[in-house]
Amino acid sequence: MKNAAMKVKKAVIPAAGLGTRFLPITKAVPKELLPLVDRAAIQYAVQEAAAAGIEQVIVVTSRGKEAIADYFDRHLELESILTVKGDSQRLLEVRRLSEMAQMTYIRQPEQLGLGHAVLCASRAVGEEPFAVILPDVIVLGEPGATSQLLEVFHRYGASVIAVEEVLASEIQNYGVIVPQPIAEGVYRVLGTVEKPAPEEAPSNLAILGRYIFTPEIFDALARVKPGAKGEIQLTDGMGLLLESQPMYAFRLHGVSYDVGNPLGLLKASIELALAREDMGPALREFLRRVVS
Ligand code: G1P
Repeated sequence: MKNAAMKVKKAVIPAAGLGTRFLPITKAVPKELLPLVDRAAIQYAVQEAAAAGIEQVIVVTSRGKEAIADYFDRHLELESILTVKGDSQRLLEVRRLSEMAQMTYIRQPEQLGLGHAVLCASRAVGEEPFAVILPDVIVLGEPGATSQLLEVFHRYGASVIAVEEVLASEIQNYGVIVPQPIAEGVYRVLGTVEKPAPEEAPSNLAILGRYIFTPEIFDALARVKPGAKGEIQLTDGMGLLLESQPMYAFRLHGVSYDVGNPLGLLKASIELALAREDMGPALREFLRRVVS
C-alpha cells in the first residue's frame, strides 16, 4: 500500500483538443477559455485541484492555446488600474487566478488523442501518483470531485476513476467500466471500454473525466495502440494498467455538466448564473418571460 500514504501533489489538465464542436469560435479562442458566466471553463478544473490540495497543475496544450497561460498569469497593469480605482473585489478575483496553483504548460505536438495528451505530461509528473481533470466536465458540490477521489485513493492505495450512471442512449459518448461492487458507491474495475455501442456496453457506469493514477499508467499509455476514433485512448491505457494493478471506480456525489458542447455550456452557464445573487433574480425573470 505504498501509494496510499503518498500525497498527490500534481494534476494534469488535458487542454489540447481542437474544440471542433465549438467552431467557428474556437478558430480564435481556446474552448477551455469559453465563459461560464464570467469565468473561463478551465478555471473550475484548477479550482477543484487546488481545493483538493494539489500544488502543481500541468496543462497540456497545443498550438493557438497560449491565452490559457495568460489567463492564469499575473497582469500587473490591470492590477494597478484596479488598485487605483479601489475595485478590491475584482482585484482579488484577478489575483486569485495566479495564486491557486503552480501552473506548468506542456505542448502536445500532434492531436493523437487523450491518452497521448496525458502521456505528454509524464516527465513533468515523474514517479508519483497524480490526478487527471478533464476541463470539459465540471462537477459542482462539496467536497469537489478530485477531493472525493483522493479519499478513495488513500483508502485503497490504487488508481481510482470517477463514474456516473448514464442513460443507454448516452453511453456511446463515454468510456464505460466493467464493475464489481465492493462498498457503497465503490467498484473494483474489471475492464474498460471506450465509447461502446449501447448493446455492447458492459454497464451503465460511464467514466466522468476525473482520475487518480499511479505513475505506471505512463508505461501502459506508451504501449497503447490507436483505438476508438483512431486515437490513443486514456481508457485503453487503463485497460492495460489493469493487467498489473487493481483499479477502483467511485460514483461521484455532485452535479456534473458536460461543457464540451455548446448546449451543455449554455445549460451550465444558466444554472451557475441562477445561483448568483447579483444576476440570479433578473435571469429567472427573463427566462420566465422568454419561455412563456
Ligand atoms: C473522454 C474520455 C471518456 C470519458 C469522457 C467524459 O471522452 O475518453 O472515457 O467518458 O471524456 O469524461 P471525450 O468526451 O473527450 O470524447
